[in-house]
Amino acid sequence: MGTAGKGAPPRSAGQAVRIAGQRVLSGIQPSGTQHLGNYFGAVRQFIALQEQNRAAYFMADLHSLTSIRDAKKRRELTRAVALDFLALGVDPKRSVLYRQSDLPEVTELAWILTSVTPMGLLQRAVSYKDKLAQGLAPDHGLFAYPVLQAADILIWRADCVPVGQDQKQHLEMTRDIAVKFNLTYGEVLKLPEPYILEDVATIPGQDGKKMSKTGGNGIEMFVSDKALRRQIMGIVTDSKGVDEPKDPDDSTIVKLYALFANPEERAALADAFRKGGLGYGDAKKALYEKVLEYFGPAREKRRELEARPDVVEDILRDGATRARSDTAELMDDVRRAAGVGAVGGK
Ligand code: TRP
Repeated sequence: MGTAGKGAPPRSAGQAVRIAGQRVLSGIQPSGTQHLGNYFGAVRQFIALQEQNRAAYFMADLHSLTSIRDAKKRRELTRAVALDFLALGVDPKRSVLYRQSDLPEVTELAWILTSVTPMGLLQRAVSYKDKLAQGLAPDHGLFAYPVLQAADILIWRADCVPVGQDQKQHLEMTRDIAVKFNLTYGEVLKLPEPYILEDVATIPGQDGKKMSKTGGNGIEMFVSDKALRRQIMGIVTDSKGVDEPKDPDDSTIVKLYALFANPEERAALADAFRKGGLGYGDAKKALYEKVLEYFGPAREKRRELEARPDVVEDILRDGATRARSDTAELMDDVRRAAGVGAVGGK
């Protein structure tokens, strides 16, 4: 084993990783701090997948251009995602970890792809409509977002793209765009399979609704002890007193606690809820302790990395070099097929 797992949280049982020997790719858009939902919904699977596959993970800073206009903030958020990846156990020796903009061929491919992408395909994108509904300006980058995502995936010849349910349509669009390219210029691009991360991974936030960056209901594993405590104490409950019996089945505290506890501990908490005698405040404290314990090593590792920006930069530079050499051949095939650019560096 290399450095995999060092500092990474333990993996709990029931986490099925069914694929091996494949080219795996996924990216995270740097748009805010990571929360429990991101970890259990995605990053944990990324880490498991790197063990038996050729995995590549990247920070989608070019995609963030469509929603964040502050350069400094983008750099900070991009760095934060890199730190999160590394602290949680993405092993740069096993996986290629890179910043999207350090692989400039992605934008070249995106233009070639966008030139075969029907307007109608993009007009059907739910994410575009959602973003407009959230108040983002309808600019071209936002509209073309799925084409850039297709380039990310196709340049890597990915077999398997682990993503949340919300990205399913983007994966379908990627396949449609690849088919269109192949019909136009010849069979060059490989169609990827989505690997939709299971819905077990719908983690409730403070208000009981799905935890999300935009929902303002996150519990974030890398904030200070104090902030983490505040977030957990902010979980919404009914107003039952300490002695009253409580319903464990509908409790956000119980659902979150279950992510960290063993079966006996889970049963004990559910029991205490039913019997009464355990107040919500104490249950939240127990959850807080569990979260701290589970993410303790990762939090420590992240602090260490944060103090060594040069180390992180070196990892990303190395990742970019490997990403560029790994994708060079495919780009040559694309250029040859489409009749643009120098092929084979000549
Ligand atoms: N759109 C993805 C998200 O918001 C991020 C992303 C960009 C991505 N490019 C990708 C995910 C390629 C998987 C593969 O979550």
